[in-house]
Amino acid sequence: MPGRAAVGAGRGPRAGRGRGLRWTGVSSPLPDVAVLGAGVAGLAVAWRAARDGARVVVLERGAAGAAASHVAAGMLAPVAEADAGERALLALGLDSARRWPAFARELQDATGVDVGYRETGTLVVARDRDAAEANVREAAIRAELGAPVASLLPSQARRMEPALAPTIRGALHAPDDHVVDPRAVVAALLAALRAHPAVELREHAGDLVLRTDGAAVTGVGEVRAGATVLAAGAWSAAAAAPLRDHGVRVPVRPVKGQLLRLHPARAGEPPLLQRVVRFDSGYLVPREDGTVILGATMEEQGFDTQVTALGLHELLRDLHEVVPGGLELAVAETVAGLRPGTPDNTPLLGAHPHAPGLHLATGHHRGGVLLAPVTADVVAAGLRGATDPAAGPAVAPERFDPASVAA
Ligand code: GLY
Repeated sequence: MPGRAAVGAGRGPRAGRGRGLRWTGVSSPLPDVAVLGAGVAGLAVAWRAARDGARVVVLERGAAGAAASHVAAGMLAPVAEADAGERALLALGLDSARRWPAFARELQDATGVDVGYRETGTLVVARDRDAAEANVREAAIRAELGAPVASLLPSQARRMEPALAPTIRGALHAPDDHVVDPRAVVAALLAALRAHPAVELREHAGDLVLRTDGAAVTGVGEVRAGATVLAAGAWSAAAAAPLRDHGVRVPVRPVKGQLLRLHPARAGEPPLLQRVVRFDSGYLVPREDGTVILGATMEEQGFDTQVTALGLHELLRDLHEVVPGGLELAVAETVAGLRPGTPDNTPLLGAHPHAPGLHLATGHHRGGVLLAPVTADVVAAGLRGATDPAAGPAVAPERFDPASVAA
C-alpha cells in the first residue's frame, strides 16, 4: 500500500472553481474526495480527480480491481451490449467508445503500462435462424447510427476466422467494436494512482457505508471528505442504505456472470482467433498471449460467486457450437463476477441533487469497462462543479428516488 501523500501536488488549473467542490488546501486534514470502490470506475474517477488537483482517498472492501473488473472481458461493443430499446445506453456507450483511444493513450503515457487496447473489430456470429434475424436487426441499428457494418456469408466469416464452425448461418463484421484488457487497465490505473503524491489507497477496508448528516454525505466509514464518490459496483445499494430514509435510492443489484479463460494446450500453437467473436448468448475474446476469454452467464443469484457445473456446461456447449476447436484449449481459469445492474441497465453518474456531497459512479451492469472513460469525465466534471456533455437525464443519479418516480 502506498504511503500517505504530501498534499496539494498536481493541483490543476480548474481546481476549486465552479459550483462544485472547493479543494481544501494543503493544511486541511480532510481529503477533498473519498472514493468508495477500487474497480475500474472508482479508479478512473480517482485518477481524473487527482489530475484535477484533488487530494483523494480510495477505499476498497477487498483488493483493488479484484471484483467485477477482474472478471470483465473488456469488449468495447456499445451496440451489441445494449438492447434495441436502450437508446440512451447505446448513445452513452458510443460516446465512451469514442473516448477510449485517448483514455488508453493517456493512461499508457502516464504509466508505461500497455492496457491492451486493440482495434481488432468483432464478428457477430449467427448459429441459427433466430440469431440470423437478430443480426439483420442489429445491422439496421448500426446503419442508422452510422456505425460501419457488413453482413457476411458463412464462407466469408470463416475466411476471416477459420476456427468458426462450418454450421454457422452467417455473421456481421463490426470493424469499430474493439477490445481492451481490463486487468491491464486496473494495473495501469493503480500504477498512476500509487505514483500520485495526493492519492491514498486503502484496500481490505471491509464493507463500508456512507457517512451521513441528514441527507448530506460527509465521507465513508471513518473517513470524512469534502465530496464522496460511490463506485462500489454491486455493493453500492448497501453502502448507500443510510440515505434511504432521506428518499435517496441506489437500486443496484448483483447480476452474476461466469467465464472461462482458456489457453493453448501446447507451446507454439497458433492463436484460435484474431478478433472478438460474439454470438447470441456470449462471446470469445482473444488476448495477445493466446488466451481466450469465454463468457458469460447472466444470473440473478444475489451475491453468490460460485462457479457451477451448469454455468461451465452452458459456456462449453456454446464453444462447441461456435468454435469447436476451442475445446482443445487448456482451462486456465474459471471465474465468476457480479455486474452492478440497475432497473434500466444504465449507470448512475454524477452529483446527486438531493444528497449534497454525494457523487455516483455505479450501476454499469455489462458496460463497466466500456463506460470507464465517460464515467471518469462525467463524475470528475461534477466534482469540479462543471458538466460533461454526457451528463443528463438518462444517467441522472436521482432518477429512481421516490420523488423522481412519483413526479
Ligand atoms: N460485458 C460483458 C458481460 O457483461 O458479460
